[in-house]
Amino acid sequence: MRTAILEVLKHNSGQYISGEDISHTLKVSRTAVWKHIRALKEDGYEIEAHPRLGYALRQNTDRLLPAEIKAQLTSDILGREIHYFSETDSTNNEAKRLATNGCQEGTIVVAEAQGSGRGRLARGWFSPPGKGIWLSVVLRPPFGPMEAAKCTLMAAVAVNRAINEVTGAGCGIKWPNDILCNGRKVVGILTEMSAEMDAINHIVIGMGINVNIEPQEFPSEIAATATSLSIASGHQVPRVKLLTAILAELENVYNVVKTSGFVPVLADWKSQSITLGQQVDVRGVDRSFTGVAIDIDADGALLIETPQGLERVLAGDVSIRPALTGQ
Ligand code: BTN
Repeated sequence: MRTAILEVLKHNSGQYISGEDISHTLKVSRTAVWKHIRALKEDGYEIEAHPRLGYALRQNTDRLLPAEIKAQLTSDILGREIHYFSETDSTNNEAKRLATNGCQEGTIVVAEAQGSGRGRLARGWFSPPGKGIWLSVVLRPPFGPMEAAKCTLMAAVAVNRAINEVTGAGCGIKWPNDILCNGRKVVGILTEMSAEMDAINHIVIGMGINVNIEPQEFPSEIAATATSLSIASGHQVPRVKLLTAILAELENVYNVVKTSGFVPVLADWKSQSITLGQQVDVRGVDRSFTGVAIDIDADGALLIETPQGLERVLAGDVSIRPALTGQ
């Protein structure tokens, strides 16, 4: 009934409609209409109530509500099943639970806030309410676990493309899966997998996108290295539009990988990269070194030319020099 009332308000495009007319059209009591309107306001819809004229929808909600996502969804598989939380510990944790219990491929988990958002290398992820897109997507790819790392590259290509389309912010990919704007991090991707020796059960791609965060809102530890899309583009970014664009791009790239393999995606990754050609510092688990990032190989490993010879990096932390252009 709530969705039906919302539809009536949207259909009236900002004009007043009386409680009596809504109650008559939808065959529901006026008290019920009033209760649903109150709930819609709690969901973030700006609805004006006038004692004589009735109700008018002034502003759509910016919340990532399933009904709003579905209204703008263009992907066929990704986002057809949506799990929405106003707050959860981590959308990746929720998605892994759902995937283990057999949810369908393309299921997404989205939250307004995360209590314990997780980043790479056992770091946390700052996830304040209503300011970002904290999103996890469940995939069940037909390829083997050795290829899983490439899913992260695939996600980086899709997210970077969607961000640039929707915001015009001019972001690029820092190997392997950070997206940077003006040298600061705006997106992080955490890919987690459950697999047997020769087959993947599921992959969860977790994406943290700093959308409408103000500079003073970042905690001091990341204030100098993080940014948001609103800062980079100079305007507030509609989160549902961006989220549905990300799902559409990710589905496109995933379909390309399934039909043609990773070669075209690697080419896209290279063309969107801000790492290649740069002097980089690599911090690995057991050693650190400096060199020039010259290429990415067919497995998604970064190739670095050092005074000691060519190094191949499959995992680790890479920062671009000078410090002003990386983190
Ligand atoms: C990184 O360290 O760069 C990766 C950050 C990934 C954060 C996202 S937010 C949605 C999903 N849920 C999590 O707990 N982490 C990922």
